[in-house]
Amino acid sequence: MPSIDWNRRKWDVNYHWNADGDLWSRGYGGPAMQWRLSLLPRILPFVPAGSILEIAPGFGRWTQFLKDLCERLTVVDLSQKCIDSCKKRFEDCSSITYHQNDGRSLAMIPDDSIDFVFSIDSLVHAEKDVIAAYLEQLHAKMTPDGVGFIHHSNLGEHARLYTFMRSNTVVYGICKGLGLGPRGGDRALSMTAAKFAACAEAAGLQCIAQEIVNWGRRRRLIDCFSLFTRRGSRWERPNVVVRNPSFRRERRRIIRLSSLYGDF
Ligand SMILES: C[S@@+](CC[C@H](N)C(=O)[O-])C[C@H]1O[C@@H](n2cnc3c(N)ncnc32)[C@H](O)[C@@H]1O
Repeated sequence: MPSIDWNRRKWDVNYHWNADGDLWSRGYGGPAMQWRLSLLPRILPFVPAGSILEIAPGFGRWTQFLKDLCERLTVVDLSQKCIDSCKKRFEDCSSITYHQNDGRSLAMIPDDSIDFVFSIDSLVHAEKDVIAAYLEQLHAKMTPDGVGFIHHSNLGEHARLYTFMRSNTVVYGICKGLGLGPRGGDRALSMTAAKFAACAEAAGLQCIAQEIVNWGRRRRLIDCFSLFTRRGSRWERPNVVVRNPSFRRERRRIIRLSSLYGDF
């Protein structure tokens, strides 16, 4: 848990998709502020890029910005509903190619064709086998100097605590009452920053930066942004791992600024 089937049911069937997922950016004053002040600064060295692959775009919260940062954008999502919504939302944009997949395959993407890979707020729900499968294929799909930026779960660092919290409905109720976030936002328990780096290495890729962060209002460092490249690329360097408990403070600063600069 969460399996690929869980993800398909949740995003393709059960989720309401009110406001196209923009509600997830409420804590930043909207997607534009989150993009400009939190996400874009982390990927600036690598964009604009010739071709970008976005894994798991949902209803296009980040696609709307990525499409203007490349000549060709490919989006891949396991939910047909999400792909259909993106097709409609971006129907005037001829540079986007859309694929619905099985939750792990990138076979439809030509080898050596992707300069930059991006995924935010989606693969936190992907267990280690899915992350490993994507990384294995990305090695072939990325150009020699290609780079990827993937947001994934680090919940496995707290596996004992969250396994206990998820163990039965009584514990679940108590933890929920205490505001402890008992399910860890449905994050994958089998993933950590270290496991991501190991999967990358096994795939012939190299993590070059990992920022381990808290997410939303949670205090624990349950998420990670991993930046990786192909071995031998011009970006290759030893991995730099930083634990960033100030990530929540960054969000609070951005929401304060959003009342001044957010609505343009
Ligand atoms: C919480 S939504 C986030 C969407 C978008 N990234 C955003 O931030 O607004 C999660 C998305 O991930 C997709 N997804 C989940 N697991 C996936 C997988 N293994 N492969 C491809 N897409 C996946 C879902 O279909 C859904 O579109």
